Amino acid sequence: MSRHVAVVGATGAVGQEFLRVLEQRKFTYDRITFLASSRSAGKTITFQGRPHTVVELTEKSFEGVDLALFSAGGSISKKFAPIAAAAGTVVVDNSSAFRMDPQVPLVVPEVNPEDVKAHKGIIANPNCSTIIMVVPVWPLHRVCPIQRLVVSTYQAASGAGYQAMLELEEQSRDVLAGKTVTPKILPHRLAFNLFSHNSKIGDNGYNEEEVKMVTETRKMFHSDAIQITATCVRVPVPRAHSESINITFAKPVSEKQVREILAAAPGVRVVDDREKNHFPMPLESSNGDDVLVGRIRQDISQPDGRGIEMFISGDQLRKGAALNAVQIAELL
Ligand code: A2P
Repeated sequence: MSRHVAVVGATGAVGQEFLRVLEQRKFTYDRITFLASSRSAGKTITFQGRPHTVVELTEKSFEGVDLALFSAGGSISKKFAPIAAAAGTVVVDNSSAFRMDPQVPLVVPEVNPEDVKAHKGIIANPNCSTIIMVVPVWPLHRVCPIQRLVVSTYQAASGAGYQAMLELEEQSRDVLAGKTVTPKILPHRLAFNLFSHNSKIGDNGYNEEEVKMVTETRKMFHSDAIQITATCVRVPVPRAHSESINITFAKPVSEKQVREILAAAPGVRVVDDREKNHFPMPLESSNGDDVLVGRIRQDISQPDGRGIEMFISGDQLRKGAALNAVQIAELL
């Protein structure tokens, strides 16, 4: 069957990663179209050694397109994903627009691949911090149900897009050169600083990123019983997110059991060398497919043995976005 694939937001940080992942995984297609705003229309993108012209996204862009990978922001998805689905295109959407829609499957292939089957034209790719967390947490939850998760994130600039990555680089140079820095993309200076995640704060004091980690995890785990609290922070790292995760299981679980489960878990690599003080780092998870997991230890504040601590790091642009979306497309 001939297959026409479109990448929406092809010039963005996730869009560019889509291209790399498609190339590396030898994704099969017959025709590929790169869509972005009118600002980029006419620019050239080199893909698999061949030049492709970027085309402006319009309501007519999806005629004859079988699969569209969307990463151009929530408002673009809200408007164009239903248009694409109505044209017969299957959309894998990286934005938050449809994630909590009961009609739309929200999928991490290592967690709930079977949910893909229920799609009605749109499948949502979860939030990047959520994806990175659930890859190692789900296999533990399957063996012994988790009652409570306490997560603190250390999120890279890439989560705010390509312009935010550039801003971090430029700011770092400017600060070192003694120049005054005026943030334009992110709300505060990120170079040599960190700040609470730049999403809207709700009435209960949680920001939107923190709420996503709670609601999206529950949707994918098909469980409202799991209690989750999150604190999300932006750190001056270009592209991989890290997270400290504290788990309370329903029953005692040993550190040894956790190590064994994680050693066999798909998409996970245990990096946990206490002697060398070598644990997951964004420098080492960047550009890789696996979520690195380390600092695995029994939580001493839970003397009944039900608590586990761990620290993880995963590439926000790859597993947190483009790779997960392409893996969803592969499930189809
Ligand atoms: P463009 O480069 O033409 O602005 P990032 O998340 O890294 O900021 O990337 C956002 C992506 O979404 C870019 O590819 C951007 O294209 C695309 N985009 C933004 N606004 C629109 C729009 N109105 N129509 C189509 N694509 C858009």
